[in-house]
Amino acid sequence: MNLDALPRKMYTEGATPIEKAERLTRAFGGPDLYVKRDDQLGLTEGGNKTRKLEFLIADALTKGADTVITAGAIQSNHCRLTLSACVKEGLNCRLVLEENEAPQYDTYSTGNYLIYQLLDEHATEIVANGTDMEAALERAAEEERSRGRVPYIIPVGGSNAVGMTGYAACAAEIASQSEGLGVAFDYVVCASGSGGMQAGLVAGFASMDWRPDVLGMSVIKPENDQQALVHKLANETAAHLRIGAEISREQVRIFDECLAPGYALPSAAMKEAVKLTAQSEAILLDPVYSGKAMAGLYALIRDGFFREQDRVLFIHSGGTPALYAYAPFFHQQ
Ligand SMILES: Cc1ncc(COP(=O)(O)O)c(C=O)c1O
Repeated sequence: MNLDALPRKMYTEGATPIEKAERLTRAFGGPDLYVKRDDQLGLTEGGNKTRKLEFLIADALTKGADTVITAGAIQSNHCRLTLSACVKEGLNCRLVLEENEAPQYDTYSTGNYLIYQLLDEHATEIVANGTDMEAALERAAEEERSRGRVPYIIPVGGSNAVGMTGYAACAAEIASQSEGLGVAFDYVVCASGSGGMQAGLVAGFASMDWRPDVLGMSVIKPENDQQALVHKLANETAAHLRIGAEISREQVRIFDECLAPGYALPSAAMKEAVKLTAQSEAILLDPVYSGKAMAGLYALIRDGFFREQDRVLFIHSGGTPALYAYAPFFHQQ
C-alpha cells in the first residue's frame, strides 16, 4: 500500500498517541488495554473524521471545487469537522442536518450544534427526520451549480473510498507505533457507524503481514447488516488502494450489544463506560460512538472474550463535544 501519490492535506502534526490504560487494565485484571487518542487529531475538537477529510478535502481541491456539501445528524461530528476543514481552506460549506425523531436533551443549544454556529452561522440547513439524505445532497449541489459554484459532495460519515483511505493510513500508523513500542496488538477495537473507519482499518491491515483482529462495535445497525456494509466498504477501499487482497466476510467482525436502545439513544451501559473511563484514565468519551463502543469492549472483557495476556488497542475516535448536548442524561440518577 503506497499512499504517497494520493492528494492529501495534513491536519495533524505527527501520529496520535497510544497510551497504556494502566488503571483500567488493573481494574479488569487483563487484557492489557491501550487507547489510541484519535480524539486528539487536528481540526476543531478532533475525532476520526479528520483522517478521512485529509484525503476528501485534497480531492475536492484537486477537482477545482469551491463548495463542499455534506450531511449528518443534528449533533454530527463529521459535519463539525467538515465545516472546520472548509473554514481552514477558505471553501464554502453546506451542512444538511436531519432533525431528530424525538426531542433530545440540549441538541440545539450546545455541543456540535453550537460549534457549527461559531464556525459559520450560515452553513446549516435542517431537514425533516426521514428525509432521503442522498437526494437532499444532490438538490443542494444543483442549487450551488445554478449559482455558478463548483460543489463537491461528501457522503454521510465521509465513508467512500477516498475518505476510508484515512483509516488505511491509520493502520500503517498503528503498525509503525506498535513496532516502536514493542507491543504487537492482538485486537484493535473501534466504533462502527457509517462503517468507514473499520473498513479502512481492515483494508489497511490486509496489506500487511501483521494483522490484528479488528472488532467493530456497531452503533447504528444490527450485526448482520453492519457486517455486510463494512465488508463491501473494506473491499472498495482495498480496490481503491490496489491492495490486491480480497477481504472475506469473516475478516469483518461486528458486535452489536452496545447499540441498544438505538442510534444516538443513551444507555446505562454507555453511561457506566463513560464514567469508568473518565474516573480511571481521565479520558472523556462521547455518548453516541466512543462511549458505546467502550461499553461494548467492557462487556466483552466481562464475558471472558479475551485472554489475560491479550493486548487490546481501543481507538478513541473522538466525539466529545456531543457529551455536553447529553448533559441532562448524565445528571439523571
Ligand atoms: C466520534 C465518532 N466515532 C466513531 C464514528 C464512526 O465512524 P464511521 O462512521 O467511520 O463508522 C463516528 C462517525 O460519525 C464518530 O463521529
